[in-house]
Amino acid sequence: MNSHTMAPVALSTHGPQLSPIVAGAWRMAEWGMSVAQRVRWIEQCLDLGITSFDHADIYGHYTVEALFGEALEAQPSLRARLQLVSKCGIKLVCAQRPAHALKSYDTSRAHVLASVDASLQALRTDHLDLLLIHRPDALMDPDELADTFQGLRAAGKVLHFGVSNHSPSQVALLNRRVPLVTNQIELSPLHLNALGDGTLDQCLDLGLRPMIWSPLAGGRLFSADDERTRRVRDTLEALAREHQVSTATVAYAWILRHPARAVPITGSQRREALQEAVAALDVRLSAEDWYRVWEASEGRPVA
Ligand SMILES: NC(=O)c1ccc[n+]([C@@H]2O[C@H](COP(=O)([O-])OP(=O)(O)OC[C@H]3O[C@@H](n4cnc5c(N)ncnc54)[C@H](OP(=O)(O)O)[C@@H]3O)[C@@H](O)[C@H]2O)c1
Repeated sequence: MNSHTMAPVALSTHGPQLSPIVAGAWRMAEWGMSVAQRVRWIEQCLDLGITSFDHADIYGHYTVEALFGEALEAQPSLRARLQLVSKCGIKLVCAQRPAHALKSYDTSRAHVLASVDASLQALRTDHLDLLLIHRPDALMDPDELADTFQGLRAAGKVLHFGVSNHSPSQVALLNRRVPLVTNQIELSPLHLNALGDGTLDQCLDLGLRPMIWSPLAGGRLFSADDERTRRVRDTLEALAREHQVSTATVAYAWILRHPARAVPITGSQRREALQEAVAALDVRLSAEDWYRVWEASEGRPVA
């Protein structure tokens, strides 16, 4: 690993500083790890320079934050060495939240404040470094939400705010009231929407680094067998041979090649997979390499 490449990056002029690769905790409940193994996983991430961890209240049906919090409690010195990102705004119907009668979105003051308090308690921490609204809420009142954010910041419970899966107009609406630091979105060689719908243009325009979820299409880049995925995989494998890195590393390098200076979130529990993500910071694809992947994904050359 090149130590320069793992230097923290600012998501916006307002901060925060995150590691250029973030570790995602979405799947942690499926990993079946003991507390000691969770501590070890966090330490492995830190050893690789991955200091930022992505959560949401709903991950693992509202269980993942507490799994991570148990690890922080077991090894309290870890908290000062890492940054915690979490999300709220989705209400799942499940045993952990018996009051929820319908899967729905909620960005009301009452829900956001209660959700943040629950996240802080589960994570065994006194603050989140970054809170994101998980999905656009059709009933969002931007003035009330901006005011809620400011209250959370004044209370020291959340240091920075952003959104996830929001359209450019939704980002603009909220960002005019309270500075947002990111839009966390899906982007991969199998998911190109953000390239053409104005999302990445807006990140460039506002100087926000997007955080990228499912950079390997949730693993489908390796497991799916449809024609499009086979085409993309063949192209990534050819580039991997040329650059003498792994296929996953090329997929990350493809995301990192965009001038929006994205921050990918890995979803893996495996150390080698985390290393493959970090290795991409040292790979610079040419524009033609980048368009070879685009062409394979779209199934046609550019116009
Ligand atoms: N904001 C949102 O709406 C949203 C939505 C989804 C996810 N996220 C965030 O984004 C993070 C990443 O998403 P994701 O988990 O879908 O990411 P991903 O990196 O696209 O997929 C990770 C999955 O692919 C598997 N995989 C198979 N081959 C792999 C390889 N060679 N290298 C790495 N992984 C491989 C992993 O299994 P192994 O563990 O066995 O490697 C894991 O199950 C989540 O943890 C979450 O924090 C956010």
